[in-house]
Amino acid sequence: MKILGYESSCDETGVALVCTEQGLLGHTLYSQVAMHEAYGGVVPELASRDHIRHILPLTQQLLAETNTHLADVDAVAYTAGPGLNGALLVGASVARSIAWALDLPAIPVHHLEGHLLSPLLAEPRPEFPFIALLVSGGHTQIMQVDGVGQYRLLGETLDDAAGEAFDKSAKLMGLGYPGGPALSSLAQQGDADQIVLPRPMLHSKDLDFSFSGLKTAVLTRLRALEQQYGQVPAEQRANLAAGTEAAIVDVLVAKVIKALKQTGLKRLVVAGGVGANQPLRQKLLAQAEKIQADVFFPPVALCTDNGAMIAFAAAMRAKAGLLGPDLKNPSFTVRPRWPLEELSTPIT
Ligand code: KG4
Ligand code: ZN
Repeated sequence: MKILGYESSCDETGVALVCTEQGLLGHTLYSQVAMHEAYGGVVPELASRDHIRHILPLTQQLLAETNTHLADVDAVAYTAGPGLNGALLVGASVARSIAWALDLPAIPVHHLEGHLLSPLLAEPRPEFPFIALLVSGGHTQIMQVDGVGQYRLLGETLDDAAGEAFDKSAKLMGLGYPGGPALSSLAQQGDADQIVLPRPMLHSKDLDFSFSGLKTAVLTRLRALEQQYGQVPAEQRANLAAGTEAAIVDVLVAKVIKALKQTGLKRLVVAGGVGANQPLRQKLLAQAEKIQADVFFPPVALCTDNGAMIAFAAAMRAKAGLLGPDLKNPSFTVRPRWPLEELSTPIT
């Protein structure tokens, strides 16, 4: 069974073709990051319009690259939520229209389910059950993944996502958008012990996070440095970047290790753009080794937003018999908010 999959929940347009037997056959992706850069964040209306511009050319490119005709496709999957309403509607409308025109089933997919199952697209493939740390510009969650459709949210951010904390701190320091990679590379030249920032909720009993206070702490330190020096010296800027990065990394690592200990699970998967952060990777590996846990870092291209994970999640659901009964119904909706707990039952 060949499934064409669409992702358009935020600022990436992704299209992919997955075969239930052979796995990923190909995927195409367009990132709107450069367009949103001028505004310092994602502008929902611009995102929707840009998805419209790219979604069909990406589809044609994918079909050409995989030497496939629409007649070879057996089902069409799309991200139905959560995400930006207008952006979701673009992918859903295109996917549903193709499915309707070809009389194929249309499969709505939960975006986070896509992220949670995407590690299975890469080698080595983690076995169920595992703990997933999902860290991107939009998500910061710790989940227990017991199998397809069996997810338990163990902890999440109460406010900003980890990537957002990187980006907002970087913006305050004049490092552009999205500033995570720039802040991290500046941090390499700094000493995190010189500027120690608060680690919110580090010692709370739960597995939740809070990052919104960090940007205030960064701003306060930056103002103090400006008062002291006028023009902040490069060394102090690097120290501030290092202090910020260390604060975010410390909390993420502490909570995820706590999750492994509490559940007794020995496999950890890290997904999302912040998973590319080198100090986070090194610290996670070192701490996990102490409790004999294995850490899986799927390729960044698969753990940031993409169409492959959506087509793949649909394929896994199909194999597990977890598709809804009414997939050819021409009416549809998207769900900007969609609790993950609803996924244990078939989606319609
Ligand atoms: O998963 P992703 O590509 O996209 C969405 O959020 O949808 O994640 C992007 C986030 C941004 O906040 C970016 O600053 C952050 O991941 N990021 C990093 C690094 N690379 C990407 N943060 C810290 N260090 C990095 N090396
Ligand atoms: Zn995502």
